[in-house]
Amino acid sequence: MTTLITGANRGLGLGLAEHYRTAGETVIGTSRDGEAGVRLDVTDTTSLANLSETLGDDPIDTLICNAGVFLDRHEKTETGYAAKLWKRTFATNVMGVFLTIQTVLPNLKTAKTAKTPKIVIISSQMGSSAKAGGNALIYRASKAAALNLGRNLAVDLELDGIAVGIYHPGWVRTDMGGGGAAISVYTSVKGLSHQIEALSLETTGCFLNWDGNPQDY
Ligand SMILES: NC(=O)c1ccc[n+]([C@@H]2O[C@H](COP(=O)([O-])OP(=O)(O)OC[C@H]3O[C@@H](n4cnc5c(N)ncnc54)[C@H](OP(=O)(O)O)[C@@H]3O)[C@@H](O)[C@H]2O)c1
Repeated sequence: MTTLITGANRGLGLGLAEHYRTAGETVIGTSRDGEAGVRLDVTDTTSLANLSETLGDDPIDTLICNAGVFLDRHEKTETGYAAKLWKRTFATNVMGVFLTIQTVLPNLKTAKTAKTPKIVIISSQMGSSAKAGGNALIYRASKAAALNLGRNLAVDLELDGIAVGIYHPGWVRTDMGGGGAAISVYTSVKGLSHQIEALSLETTGCFLNWDGNPQDY
């Protein structure tokens, strides 16, 4: 089994990579600096083309779109949320997710495993419209878009036999989550890996918490 993980150099991505490597699976980690294995900036089409070339015809069983940014924690509605924050956040959290999926799709289609090939999108509870909490408007909108993207791709890719799951990893102690966050990378990864294992064509399009509880859309 081969799993490709974006943003695998730190935080959740690194935790997921370590988890699958420890389980004996083949992991292709990507990061912007190349330290995680393959160099990939998900916003850069040349970088994505290089990934495609590196992968060749190799099958990928699971793609985990984990890379993301959260740039607008302390913005003020009246004066903040500058266009450059919108551009970079949507380029990474939405366009980057789609272009990564599009790049890896041929490899997912050639995966000849007994199991269904899977696409995992790490979104966030902050993308839930039902749980709108105000502030961080750009991040919230980008994670809502990532959720919507995953739900629609689940429909489009069902005929290809590829399942798509969208997940909230919890509030996790990473650079993004901060030291005061609720759960460790270990706990989040343990839960997420169970949910990813359970993902199937029957559950495609699901939006779940790391512990398997359904998330509100
Ligand atoms: N931590 C939480 O509490 C929490 C909660 C809900 C959702 N999430 C989501 O979980 C995912 C992982 O978050 P995390 O907490 O592990 O964050 P993190 O520690 O800040 O790590 C973010 C990762 O994304 C990578 N990245 C950012 N921009 C990229 C780009 N343009 N191309 C490729 N990689 C890029 C970073 O690479 P560099 O090292 O090069 O910057 C890093 O590897 C994100 O999608 C985040 O939105 C996290």
